[in-house]
Amino acid sequence: MCGIAGVVSSQPVSDRLFRGIKNLEYRGYDSCGVAYLNSSGIVVRKNIGYVDSVNVTERLCEIEGHVGIAHTRWATHGRVTKANSHPHMSCNGDFAVVHNGIISNYRGLRDELRMQGHEFASDTDSEVLAHLVEEYYRVTEDVEKAFTEALGRVEGSYAFALISTHEPGKIFCARCKSPLVMGIGNKSNYLGSDFITFLSYTRKVIFLDDGEYAVICGDDYYTKKIESGELVDKPITEISWDPETSKKNGYPHYMLKEIHEQPNAMVSAMGLDNQGVVELARMILDADQCFLVGVGTTYYVSLIGQYLFSIHADHFIPAVSSDEFTNLAKPTNNSLAIFVSQSGETYDTLNALRFIKEAGGSSAAIVNVMGSSLARMADHTIMQGSGPEICVVSTKAATSQMIILLQAALELAHLTGKLSRGEKGEIERAMSEIPGRINSVINDNSEFIRGLANKYSHIKNWLWLGRGLYYPLALESALKMKEVTYLHAEGMSGGFLKHGTLSLIDEDMYTVVLVPPKEEEDLYQLTMSSVEEIKARGGFVIGIGFDHDEDLFDEIILLPKVSRFLAPFLPLVPAQLFAYFVALSLDREIDKPKSLAKSVTVP
Ligand code: G6P
Repeated sequence: MCGIAGVVSSQPVSDRLFRGIKNLEYRGYDSCGVAYLNSSGIVVRKNIGYVDSVNVTERLCEIEGHVGIAHTRWATHGRVTKANSHPHMSCNGDFAVVHNGIISNYRGLRDELRMQGHEFASDTDSEVLAHLVEEYYRVTEDVEKAFTEALGRVEGSYAFALISTHEPGKIFCARCKSPLVMGIGNKSNYLGSDFITFLSYTRKVIFLDDGEYAVICGDDYYTKKIESGELVDKPITEISWDPETSKKNGYPHYMLKEIHEQPNAMVSAMGLDNQGVVELARMILDADQCFLVGVGTTYYVSLIGQYLFSIHADHFIPAVSSDEFTNLAKPTNNSLAIFVSQSGETYDTLNALRFIKEAGGSSAAIVNVMGSSLARMADHTIMQGSGPEICVVSTKAATSQMIILLQAALELAHLTGKLSRGEKGEIERAMSEIPGRINSVINDNSEFIRGLANKYSHIKNWLWLGRGLYYPLALESALKMKEVTYLHAEGMSGGFLKHGTLSLIDEDMYTVVLVPPKEEEDLYQLTMSSVEEIKARGGFVIGIGFDHDEDLFDEIILLPKVSRFLAPFLPLVPAQLFAYFVALSLDREIDKPKSLAKSVTVP
């Protein structure tokens, strides 16, 4: 995935550049580096490790320079080594590049460049661009021309930034299927994979689109189309997010802070302009066929949405994981895909969006990041307004997306006559209780859950079970646990347990069961029969539920009583807290788990 930052300024840029890649660390954190232009040429410092540790060894903040680019890496091509870290230089040292994406034809280009005498210092796909630009500069003697000629040769996905000794006051950058954003400041201009990179310095933002490049100076910039060279007049967007909200505010980890922010994020989701949800419900009604599409947590949120539409609106909308959408879905020009994404930049989700567009179908998006590719490309976008989510694992964004999907299901039920205005209003009034209840779950249960986590963090295999709407919640709970604790955790429906997994149950495999309230009689009974099956085989069971059933459970996390419609909004929060505290007790890298990244911008 990787993160890119750049600053051009009348003042030294090293602090701002360092802060830029710190802010981007959620996109990749196996290595990082910076390249500056100063009187002696291009200086590159890079190494493997987190940004702070590389700063200790390489003193990233102590380099003089008014123009710089920087990078945090999430390895795709080439192992995690110093040589493979970005920036990469051309042979003659006149050009340095950073890259996010995958150059699919890099092998052919590398062979060709080797034949021309170029020597490569890394195993990455990215390095070819530095050599290509050097090669084209020999002919054109013009950095901008050489840059665009080189871009014309690369295939795949990219956000590139380049600096050159031949144009010392400029950054050249371009975008194709990987995000790139410019920040317009006062005698300083910025570049980033997202606007969080530079939000402390400017809120004025230009979103580059695919096929565009920009040349950025300290007090000026212009944007053009890569293919035609035609100037593009890009609008400046003012970002409303407060940079303060992207700080930890005394919490030890962003994950814990964001779990605590859920009640407020849900209130924001409930307070959104209702027109967005009404429009979404109308689009569903008009379409012949609908899909809910997301990946990772947002696939599970889509699955939760699938249940919400079935339960409340009698409308079956299958959830499809975006990475399989093109292999599975057969959209037509009257299909609708509803995309769910925190970042709005996930490669597979954007790919699925392009797929439905090619079929002539329509698209809607529920997305958290303003100006993201998904937010701009979908026909209808609902900005969920959850504020920055920094921890790699998603918490508050997911529960807010659930609220919006519930609102859309209720709206659809009203449009089709399944719910009268009064009935819908009643559920909505009850919905407004959810944030308060979640607050109580956090306040009343955190210490108990921490105790359980400390007691059982030595257990290496975890099964999370649920039925009905509690089934996708179990899947998401297991994902949280896997992501942040590195333990084996599997989510499953209670019914499926008997078809294989039951043979794994013994005293070493612990199960967490998400139990619906007793009013959901059938679902409750079926869930409890799964618990019996596990207990009969000597399994250890922790319940997360609303009723005290001491005999069966070895431990129980009790939730406050709410109506059966709202109950499914509660169990995810103790599951998130449990995953967090187990990870804490195992001393994991909670906000940046190994091998993961928040924004997966490669296929
Ligand atoms: C990555 C993140 C997950 C996230 C998924 C989808 O895997 O680590 O937390 O759920 O991408 O991301 P999106 O931004 O599209 O919701």
